[in-house]
Amino acid sequence: MNHLVRFAAVASVALLVSTAAQAQDCQVSITEPFDLTETDIASIYDCIGDKMVEGYSKGGDMVAKNYRNWTVTGTRHGVAGAHGNRLLLTYANDIAAEQYLKFAEEGVVMPAGSRLAKESIKINKKKIAAVVGPLFLMTKLEAGAAPETADWLYGGIQPNGKPMKFKQGFCHDCHMSWEEQDFLAYPLEEVRVGN
Ligand code: HEC
Repeated sequence: MNHLVRFAAVASVALLVSTAAQAQDCQVSITEPFDLTETDIASIYDCIGDKMVEGYSKGGDMVAKNYRNWTVTGTRHGVAGAHGNRLLLTYANDIAAEQYLKFAEEGVVMPAGSRLAKESIKINKKKIAAVVGPLFLMTKLEAGAAPETADWLYGGIQPNGKPMKFKQGFCHDCHMSWEEQDFLAYPLEEVRVGN
C-alpha cells in the first residue's frame, strides 16, 4: 500500500471509532510513532500539551507544576525508541541547563541540584489516540549520597499525578551506557536546542 492509501485507510478507521472515543482523547491518523512527521507531532502537542501538566500536577508535586518554566532542551518531542517509543521532551532546571545544553560527550559532571524532567506522550494504538505518558525525572544529589547510581535519583510521575514505583537499577542499568556524559542520554541530535 502506498503512503496516501494507507493514510486514507487509517483516517477513515479513525473517523469510525471517533464517536466511541472519549472526548478528551487526542485522535491521531498515524499510530506508528516513528512515522510521525513534525507537523503530526505539533498537532498532537497542541491537543495534549495542557492536559499533561494538569495530570502530572494532580498530586501537588512542585516539579510537575514548575518544569515547563525550566529550560527546554529540544525543539520538539522526539521519538528515540527508549522509554517505550514515546514522544519525549526534556526540560532542565537552572542548575542543570548550562552544562546539559552543551550535550558534551566526555568528562561531564553535573552539579548537585541538577534536575531533568522529561515529559512523554504515548500513541495508544487501540484508541488511535495520543495519551499522556509519565514525567520521568533525574535529580543529582550531593556527592556520596547514592553511590550505586552515581548520585542520581531517578523518579517518575504518572499521568494521574501519582509517583511511579520502580527500582533505581531499572533506570540506571540503561543510563549506565552514558557514563562519560554523567549518565545522561540527551535528546536525539536532530531535535537538540542549538543544533
Ligand atoms: C532502555 C534504556 C532506558 C531506560 C530503562 C531508561 N531510560 Fe531514561 N533515557 C534513555 C534514553 C535513550 C534517553 C534520551 C532519549 C530522549 O530524551 O530522546 C533517556 C533520557 C532520560 C531523561 C532525560 C535526561 C537525559 O538522560 O538526557 C530522564 C530524566 C530519564 N531518561 C529518566 C529515566 C527514568 C526515571 C527511568 C526509569 C524509570 C529511565 N530513564 C529509564 C534510556 C533509558
